[in-house]
Amino acid sequence: MDRYKHIDFLRVTEEAALAASKWVGKGKRDEADDAACQAMRATLNAMEMCATIVIGEGERDEAPMLYIGEKLGQGDGPEVQIAVDPLEGTNLCANGTPNAISVLAAAVEGDGFLMHAPDTYMDKLVVGKECAGVVDITLPPRVNVRLMAKALGKDVDEMIIGILDRPRHADLIGELRETGCRVHLVPDGDLSVAIAALDPDTGVDGLMGIGGAPEGVLTAVAVLCTGGEMQARLKFRNDDEKERAKTMMTGDVERVLTTADLAQGNVVFSATGITSGDLLKGVRYKRGYALTESIMMRSETRQIRRIETIHMADGAEH
Ligand code: FBP
Repeated sequence: MDRYKHIDFLRVTEEAALAASKWVGKGKRDEADDAACQAMRATLNAMEMCATIVIGEGERDEAPMLYIGEKLGQGDGPEVQIAVDPLEGTNLCANGTPNAISVLAAAVEGDGFLMHAPDTYMDKLVVGKECAGVVDITLPPRVNVRLMAKALGKDVDEMIIGILDRPRHADLIGELRETGCRVHLVPDGDLSVAIAALDPDTGVDGLMGIGGAPEGVLTAVAVLCTGGEMQARLKFRNDDEKERAKTMMTGDVERVLTTADLAQGNVVFSATGITSGDLLKGVRYKRGYALTESIMMRSETRQIRRIETIHMADGAEH
């Protein structure tokens, strides 16, 4: 993405996070999502590029903005594929609980690739760099957690695995607890926990379990940028979802997908915290300014930047 000012994408998630932050704790998930979408769309639209949304708020007939296929940008500059989740964790934002973030990934056409994932579920196994190459999603979770502990030089009871707190994960949680492993259950936001698992300083060693497939593609971009590993399998709720997936991808739609199936080449990733959580601090308001914390990654250089921005109430940035 050197042909392009990739850092501009940081402003996109910052603006969405600032807009959503006005709705933190107000119990209004739709309003929060709408505010994040509008801010993200306006910022993307002002950029010099020909962008196409490949992962967004849904299909054209169900989402008024940031729908799949929507063209954004000033119409000059590079052709860019964009995957967005303007407000990841709408309930978290509405309830004022940790881990709501705003996220974007981008790839210049022909230089990088983002899977056009169907809006279905995905079984995910995400690990950081030290565990890359040692796990296998087709093995039982108890085996994977032991393999991970060995690679990390830890005892199994020192491990922490993040999992979405859902009834569908009862067996997975039980199996991991039986090994002695500690389980970090989150009410929403597996994307945030997955990215935390890529950073050894967060204390989260991995993510397991079923969440959204679009969030899975965004996760894969962060995995590609950090040198971790992701393995996944699409999980369909009905035949319609399976048939739709067949129109969007080649080969067996239920096969194990690797990081390279989900994201490849020259890609960038930006996430900004809305409420403070495993990965990032949320938006904080002070007299006359607001503070945001973001993480920005580039696969080409493997650079990972943590960025704190001061947003002055008068619109100036520092
Ligand atoms: P939203 O922000 O769209 O509500 O998604 C939150 C989330 O928890 C994701 O992080 C996760 O991948 C997905 O929902 C899980 O879906 P479900 O709530 O149906 O289990």
